[in-house]
Amino acid sequence: MILVQDQLKDQSEVRIDIEDRGYQFGDGVYEVVRVYNGQYFGMDEHLVRLERSAKEIQMSLPYPIEVLKRRLEILAEANDIEDGHVYLQITRGVAERTHQFPLQPAPLLVAYARKSPRPLSKMKKGVTAITTEDIRWLRCDIKSLNLLGNVLGKQKAMDAKCDESIFIRNEVVTEGSSTNVYIVKNGEIWTHPANNFILNGITRQVILELAKEEGITVHEETFNKNDLMHAEEVIISSTTMEVTPVISIDGKPVSNGIPGKVARTLQEKFNERIAQLQRVKN
Ligand code: PDD
Repeated sequence: MILVQDQLKDQSEVRIDIEDRGYQFGDGVYEVVRVYNGQYFGMDEHLVRLERSAKEIQMSLPYPIEVLKRRLEILAEANDIEDGHVYLQITRGVAERTHQFPLQPAPLLVAYARKSPRPLSKMKKGVTAITTEDIRWLRCDIKSLNLLGNVLGKQKAMDAKCDESIFIRNEVVTEGSSTNVYIVKNGEIWTHPANNFILNGITRQVILELAKEEGITVHEETFNKNDLMHAEEVIISSTTMEVTPVISIDGKPVSNGIPGKVARTLQEKFNERIAQLQRVKN
């Protein structure tokens, strides 16, 4: 079952118009929310970001966020999702193709749920990355459907038989093609500040909280490629990748090429947060 506006429908019943502005212009916003043990993780934070993304592109939501939250719960239940995620997008809806906004926009919301396992093996072993130029627009803080820069970046990593591309803009490390990036230097964490050059990940927000709880100093400050290549640890995070160590970049090992202590600590703490969901449920 998928959610279309506020109705659950069978996927085979749903047709998207070729004049939907999401299809034609990528004119819309989206979210990906993780489900652990049948419970959403960070749903409120994702919905806050969704509302913000929509506002930043001057788009209204088709109905109130509180109603959406309830509908998404029903969606996960209807699809019997224990471990998985929900993908949700809102476009500016169907209108004759002109670049400017339609006079009477009718935003279209579609969401679907998928079962997906946690990336436990990658989290344990670590992943490999390349660096590449950040060619994206200057509003990476908006979770927009326009993902070509990210798509091309990820493909470049795949072509190099790596897992992720780490973007560099004017010497500064911004983020990954679908992840936030952190380095550890002198036992302290550095990550790009949450401004227009990165998406302020929900996982990022949790990680920064966990680091502070653990007494690990966090610098939300820019760092460059040289810092990246000489870091004690490099970590990436996202809703789907959770907290994952990076063990090599551009073919060179990060430190001694095995996941580091800070990554392991954050993973343990993150697991505890997930376990808390289970306790809330029971
Ligand atoms: N991507 N930066 C970018 C460019 C991203 O696309 C993502 C997530 C993140 C991490 O954000 P969060 O922790 O809120 O998932 C950072 C999602 C998972 C995706 O596009 O599939």
